[in-house]
Amino acid sequence: MNLFRLICRHKTALVIGSICTFAVVLVFLAKCTSETLRQDHPDPPGLAPNTNALKFRPESHDPLSSSKALSAFLVVLITTGPKYTERRSIIRSTWLAKRDSDVLALFVVGTQGLLSDDLQNLNTEQGRHKDLLLLPDLRDSYENLTLKLLHMYSWLDQNVDFKFVFKADDDTFARLDLLKEELKSKEPSRLYWGFFSGRGRVKTAGKWRESSWELCDYYLPYALGGGYILSADLVRFVHLNAGYFKTWQSEDVSLGAWLAPVDVRRTHDPRFDTEYKSRGCNNKYLVTHKQSLEDMLEKHQTLQREGRLCKEEVKLRLSYVYDWSVPPSQCCQRKDGIP
Ligand SMILES: *[C@@H]1O[C@H](CO)[C@@H](O)[C@H](O)[C@H]1NC(C)=O
Repeated sequence: MNLFRLICRHKTALVIGSICTFAVVLVFLAKCTSETLRQDHPDPPGLAPNTNALKFRPESHDPLSSSKALSAFLVVLITTGPKYTERRSIIRSTWLAKRDSDVLALFVVGTQGLLSDDLQNLNTEQGRHKDLLLLPDLRDSYENLTLKLLHMYSWLDQNVDFKFVFKADDDTFARLDLLKEELKSKEPSRLYWGFFSGRGRVKTAGKWRESSWELCDYYLPYALGGGYILSADLVRFVHLNAGYFKTWQSEDVSLGAWLAPVDVRRTHDPRFDTEYKSRGCNNKYLVTHKQSLEDMLEKHQTLQREGRLCKEEVKLRLSYVYDWSVPPSQCCQRKDGIP
């Protein structure tokens, strides 16, 4: 009875007390939930302290959904400059023309500091084709190619659910149908597939001059940049470490160095004709680089009419099979009989 009387006497205080306790519990719960969400979605690519340049526009996907906005088996990223509308147009109408719905192809352009005319043209092009990956925090310049690679792989890891990426230049021609077919039977992990060099002498002059390469007399083994394939886990690795990586002048040399300590399957394939000069034309080629607009049109037409790549096979230079069992300086002996 005493207890009952006590409760009656202090009922206002009790009610207020309960409301306060309830409120505190609510605030606590809300805080826990928001922290869990934050853990699910680690920082945008900002990452390590020194790469402020790697900040991104607001995330384009809903932070509450764990699935990414886009999905594809194979993503094709073609690096290109703002003004190369014609090259993009030829690529769209040739090697990108008939592709499966699980292949996502994007042209990558940095738009920072662009004149409004150029920006306008890009927006028009984007409206028509919806296949541009515009990077607003990157000034598109030759010196910035390696940074562009970091930006685009970071974007890719964050926004697309995919298995493999094929990186190409806007003077590359590729057999997407064949690439995809071969990829279907490959494990989608730790794959670095292209035409490798292990004895690249460090360039001290000219367009490819490296002024701050201090690791070795040679570059570390890397797949030449005109076209190579990475599995999604390696793209994630690059994204997660972007803030720590040194960016050398050449993007392909840089990627080779970033992946040097990683347990990857370096798969050398002479069917990637991706050197600084094309080795000619071979019907076995999956990828061929340094193609003019006319070359692309001709290859596309020959493929359509005759089911093969080359009007005539031509061998301008010898090729090699990479020998991983000898020191890199002896890796790459050119021989006859290799495409
Ligand atoms: C590289 O890109 C960054 C970020 O957009 C820019 O600040 C810098 O000026 C660019 N460098 C060159 C050489 O274009």
